[in-house]
Amino acid sequence: MKEIKLDLGNSSYSVFIGSLGELNFAGKVAVVTNPKVAGLHFKTLLSKIKAPEVYAISVPDGEEYKNLSNVESILEQCFISRLDRKSTIISFGGGVISDMAGFAASIYERGIGYVGVPTTLLAAVDASVGGKTGVNNKFGKNLIGSFYQPSAVYIDTSFLATLDSREIAAGMAEAIKMAVMFDEGFFNELAKKSLSYDEIIAKCVSLKADVVSQDEKEAGLRAVLNYGHTFAHVIECEGGYSTHLHGEAVAIGMVMANTLACELGLLSADEAQKIKNALEAYNLPTSYKIKDTNAFYEAFFHDKKSMDGNIKFILTNGKIGSHIIKGDISKDIVIKVLSKFC
Ligand code: NAD
Ligand code: GLY
Repeated sequence: MKEIKLDLGNSSYSVFIGSLGELNFAGKVAVVTNPKVAGLHFKTLLSKIKAPEVYAISVPDGEEYKNLSNVESILEQCFISRLDRKSTIISFGGGVISDMAGFAASIYERGIGYVGVPTTLLAAVDASVGGKTGVNNKFGKNLIGSFYQPSAVYIDTSFLATLDSREIAAGMAEAIKMAVMFDEGFFNELAKKSLSYDEIIAKCVSLKADVVSQDEKEAGLRAVLNYGHTFAHVIECEGGYSTHLHGEAVAIGMVMANTLACELGLLSADEAQKIKNALEAYNLPTSYKIKDTNAFYEAFFHDKKSMDGNIKFILTNGKIGSHIIKGDISKDIVIKVLSKFC
């Protein structure tokens, strides 16, 4: 069992990677999941939980259901099961489930216990770690939410065996994101496809733990984890959260961010091509047709990194494995870059 610690003062916790052992709780437990994950793996999880009472709370499967009304439905079921301040919510699923379950845990009776058991590669490498929780609304992605750290995260890669190839690829997009921003050596290994899931997850969680330990509430550095996301969130919103998987939109978003970086002299065409090749090696999409560049640009202003009319872009800083947060880029330059995707 590999243990990676997030050093966050009173909110510190560990991420465990390895075969899931017994999970012991003094209070009641509610497992938030969806019908697909429950059908495949609930029995396995249930056999590991030792608690006075265990409830299952199911929400519909899909990004389009990551909204306030489903959080309300989770909360209602918590009240019906009479969860109290000693109770724990376990999120059991992908990033959609962990974002919603974590948010519900953060607001139920002003906050109860929260534990993550991710079942997608994307949730294992990124979403289950770091305490960002929340939901989408008609204005955009993840605009409602909270920072709320779990007390532990248990990653057992045997759950990933039932994922389809598209979902695996979506997880790889977030892993490539981490590598491009922070670690050229890791990027080269990913490009060569030479690492196991356990190795990829351990590396991503370590990189993320380091970032989140320095900047839990995204005052600066943590924004770098949003490389590609400013573009991706618009793509997801334009598709009604159902045409592209989050990781697929992030892959396209990284290509768009790299095109901007090339325009600004912050990345060579060769390096941009290397990143595109790596994404395509995992069968991730790298192209997108923007219908209206102005509308696409305006949608950036719903991004949480946009402040006082200034959009902050997360870009490579000269090479793979480096990053820069760049504001004050003129609208003309951004529109010129977006036009290359028309
Ligand atoms: P997801 O949660 O929708 O899961 C993808 C699909 O896989 C779903 O249909 C799900 O039911 C299914 N599934 C889950 N586990 C499975 C298994 N073991 N076998 C078979 N099928 C399984 O999507 P995701 O890619 O895991 O997460 C995307 C979400 O995560 C987005 O909403 C994104 O905004 C969020 N996210 C959050 C953070 C964060 O830090 N909070 C970071 C990255 C992404
Ligand atoms: N996935 C971005 C973050 O956790 O900050």
